[in-house]
Amino acid sequence: MKTITIIAAIARNNEIGRKGDLLWHIPADLRHFKTLTQGSTVIMGRKTWESLPKRPLPKRCNIVITGNRDYEAPGAVIAHSLQEALEIAANSAVENTSSSRIFIIGGGSIYSEAMPLADKLEITHIDADAPDADTFFPVISPQEWRLISESAPEEDSTTPSITFRTYERK
Ligand SMILES: NC(=O)c1ccc[n+]([C@@H]2O[C@H](COP(=O)([O-])OP(=O)(O)OC[C@H]3O[C@@H](n4cnc5c(N)ncnc54)[C@H](OP(=O)(O)O)[C@@H]3O)[C@@H](O)[C@H]2O)c1
Repeated sequence: MKTITIIAAIARNNEIGRKGDLLWHIPADLRHFKTLTQGSTVIMGRKTWESLPKRPLPKRCNIVITGNRDYEAPGAVIAHSLQEALEIAANSAVENTSSSRIFIIGGGSIYSEAMPLADKLEITHIDADAPDADTFFPVISPQEWRLISESAPEEDSTTPSITFRTYERK
């Protein structure tokens, strides 16, 4: 069985996006995302796919969920539901790797749908508010999730401080 991991960067009030884009582009977080997801399968909603500066994400099997039967996403596999995406991911192999991990990489609608199915959360907590955000991460309930690791805060003079936390389902 492959592990299902949700990976997201969330601000203090669970804000994750604005007008189809990330709230901040934080280099240390983008490196963390790349390190964790390379060699694995990534599942995303159609809007997140369209927000990627480079498509598909290299060295990963990219799966895009859309309700549109005519949608084309060159370099990615299309699925028409989260369940279909997970079935494709369960059988996918990424070249030159033996990864058994599936990452749900957003956005808001896919995170909400995937939360009850996930085994693990890899959350970058951004120490800032984003009052103009329009997309949010679901609540991480302490009844359901146990914090298993936490990094020291990473500071950068031009972007908010971030902390990486890993949660496991209780
Ligand atoms: N901070 C972070 O870590 C992070 C990560 C990823 C994304 N984001 C941000 O999140 C925002 C995008 O999130 P979003 O919620 O607006 O969009 P999204 O989840 O990326 O994509 C939504 C689209 O996915 C398809 N979809 C979703 N559920 C479906 C289902 N059950 N069956 C079939 N299709 C389904 C639909 O596509 P169709 O309309 O084509 O049918 C829907 O319009 C952006 O601002 C992005 O930058 C933030």
